Amino acid sequence: KKVLLSGIQPSGELHLGNYLGAIKNWAELSDQFDCYWFMADLHTITVRQDPAALRKRTLAQIATYIACGLDPEKNTIFVQSHVSAHAELGWVLDCYTMFGELSRMTQFKDKSARNADNINAGLFTYPCLMAADILLYQPDFVPVGEDQKQHVEICRDIANRFNHLYGEVFKVPEPYIPKTGARVMSLNAPESKMSKSMPDGCVFLLEKPEDIMRKFKRAVTDSDTERCVRLDRENKPGVANLMGIYSAVTGKSFEAIEAEFEGKGYGVLKPAVGEAVVETLRPIREETERLLADKAYLESVYRAGAERASRAAEKTLRKVYKKVGFLPR
Ligand code: TYM
Repeated sequence: KKVLLSGIQPSGELHLGNYLGAIKNWAELSDQFDCYWFMADLHTITVRQDPAALRKRTLAQIATYIACGLDPEKNTIFVQSHVSAHAELGWVLDCYTMFGELSRMTQFKDKSARNADNINAGLFTYPCLMAADILLYQPDFVPVGEDQKQHVEICRDIANRFNHLYGEVFKVPEPYIPKTGARVMSLNAPESKMSKSMPDGCVFLLEKPEDIMRKFKRAVTDSDTERCVRLDRENKPGVANLMGIYSAVTGKSFEAIEAEFEGKGYGVLKPAVGEAVVETLRPIREETERLLADKAYLESVYRAGAERASRAAEKTLRKVYKKVGFLPR
């Protein structure tokens, strides 16, 4: 069976970009593959976190993964900090990654520009920890949104470099990027990707339906005079984004969407997309709330997950330690 792995940072509430770019696709793939889905909590402390809020969001994220259709009986759902091999392999990979290649990472450049008062070493070596997350489990594919592609690519470079020195230690994974939903843009600034740092243009998975509808009704369309629903990414990015979201949640093609809204303006499109999103998210929100009331169940999920994940991860870590010459214990 092929192996799949991916994670999300519990650094904010999960949003529609995380769902359409990542979790929705994980759920669709999770029956056919051997899957590892984790909460990337180690990564979140590259930025200061409120400890109580981080704990709460991590637990809510586990509940949401399950609510989105990831089955903890069939998949390994775990918390990154519960599996110490991540930090351990992360250190080793730090020593096989060059200053120059980390300096070129666009996310580092963006984040350090935005956080000038906390450009810490973790922010810089983040891609090495992410490479460790991935390589420990020898996955075939890493399903992520478009913005993580560069990180999966540096992971491949690191793996190839290591394999070149020591033989075939790591499987070199492929990024797996969905056809629709790979890059969901902000509703009120369609030139930026949807992210929690711009909450007005961001739809959170657990948000109330009326708030979601309000955000869609206020979505920025375009200042073009044509006012018709037609796919034109360059000149009508706001409309293209709404069409992309609608396509991802309904499964309809762009041609079908153009036909559906033929002769109707943006005033019809916006609430229609809003309603489709509300209906997609409703069962996820309800199920997340139900699961959050059962803490004992969630604990049993992440404990079993940590145990399974540790077993797989330790195998790779031992191999690496042996290759680099550490004395076996
Ligand atoms: P993170 O936590 O920023 O995002 C989690 C996932 O959501 C996707 N995503 C989006 N997709 C489409 N449109 C958007 N607007 C959007 N915003 C976010 C991301 O592409 C990602 O798939 N470094 C990772 C977490 C990580 C990881 C890993 C992922 C740590 N270790 C190992 C895979 C494998 C991150 O910060 O993603």
